[in-house]
Amino acid sequence: MKTFGTPLSSQATKVMLLGSGELGKEVLIALQRLGVETIAVDRYENAPGQQVAHHARTITMSDPAQLKALIEAERPHLVVPEIEAIATPMLQELEAAGTVRVIPTARAARLTMDREGIRRLAAETLGLPTSPYKFCDSLAELQAAIDAGIGYPCIVKPVMSSSGKGQSKIDGPADVKKAWDYAMAGGRVSHGRVIVEGFIDFDYEITLLTVRAIGANGKVETHFCAPIGHVQVSGDYVESWQPQPMHPAALERSQYIAKAVTDNLGQGLDGDSTQGAGVGVGLFGVELFVKGDQVWFSEVSPRPHDTGMVTMTTQWQNEFELHARAILGLPVNTALKSPGASAVIYGGVEAKGIVFDGVAEALRVPNTDIRLFGKPESFVKRRMGVALAFDADVQVARVNAKLAASRVKPRAA
Ligand SMILES: Nc1ncnc2c1ncn2[C@@H]1O[C@H](COP(=O)(O)OP(=O)(O)OP(=O)(O)O)[C@@H](O)[C@H]1O
Ligand SMILES: [Mg+2]
Repeated sequence: MKTFGTPLSSQATKVMLLGSGELGKEVLIALQRLGVETIAVDRYENAPGQQVAHHARTITMSDPAQLKALIEAERPHLVVPEIEAIATPMLQELEAAGTVRVIPTARAARLTMDREGIRRLAAETLGLPTSPYKFCDSLAELQAAIDAGIGYPCIVKPVMSSSGKGQSKIDGPADVKKAWDYAMAGGRVSHGRVIVEGFIDFDYEITLLTVRAIGANGKVETHFCAPIGHVQVSGDYVESWQPQPMHPAALERSQYIAKAVTDNLGQGLDGDSTQGAGVGVGLFGVELFVKGDQVWFSEVSPRPHDTGMVTMTTQWQNEFELHARAILGLPVNTALKSPGASAVIYGGVEAKGIVFDGVAEALRVPNTDIRLFGKPESFVKRRMGVALAFDADVQVARVNAKLAASRVKPRAA
């Protein structure tokens, strides 16, 4: 993007977000600040991002016909996928036809849509270290894969799922059927395929936010944020902090892996087409497991990452601003401002239009901030907000973020 237009005029620079949850909302706010005209798309009305965009559209994004019709009607300059459950083959078609540019590339959106595309790319094409794994289509295949070498303990995940849905750990033969049934109930699309992974007994896990942005010479440059440590409960993030202290060798390995994966995902159609080849820009969340100096690739989001919400208090440019800048062809600064932490505020109740008590008490915790996402409906385990804290000591920040989060009390109105 060489010049920037005025929103709501014929000169507008238009960006469409596919998925308008809490992460999309922050990207939209960052785009709004640059005078970009925004279109927030989600599967339900009044999604968080739709509340801060110029236009709100509600469609089934996994339906190729609906997706095509909307993109052709709106004609955005950029389409920015914010979730995985999108008809990505249609995005590839529209990108190939020159109808639209997909961030970072339609190929990246497609490869990361399910666990198989990205895992095979990382392990088999790029030769990066991952947990041992096997894809299975039945309980019998799952048992056979475990017996043939994956062993116990191991983890079973539906090929299409996120936030730990349908995911469970198997400690011994007695757990196998339970894990299979749980995966079948929790997958996003019921095509009954799972990945079984050998369990990695890591010391800690990180998200390495990696930004591909255009440099002064017009070429894509790779920038890394400080590593983010996090805790997951049942496959869902509950707290994160930045920076996670790391051995220099482990950090170097992590950056090497992150660059290899994002360089590849930044390439256009199968890597050798002129369409977008090598020019995919934007921020990625690269998930890695670390034990001593050993690092394993786990997965990657070609977009801002939930654990990266901590950057709203720790970086000069948070992960959403970095994404917005990178996709618009602007320079980025990944420098840390202060160590800090984030802690999730869950709904705790099943109700629509809930209210939050204790917000003032939460913000009385020193150096804290909160985001309430504005989701119209609460579930017990739905992420409704996040507490942020900064402190020179990252451990103090963690304690304060958790304390602030615990003081916010959602309840049915
Ligand atoms: N092979 C493994 N060995 C050890 N722990 C694992 C393994 N795979 C996953 N985990 C744990 O489960 C968490 C969630 O796994 P993963 O990231 O694959 O699932 P997800 O549903 O895509 O989660 P999200 O969408 O929140 O990133 C990981 O962050 C890690 O803590
Ligand atoms: Mg993950």
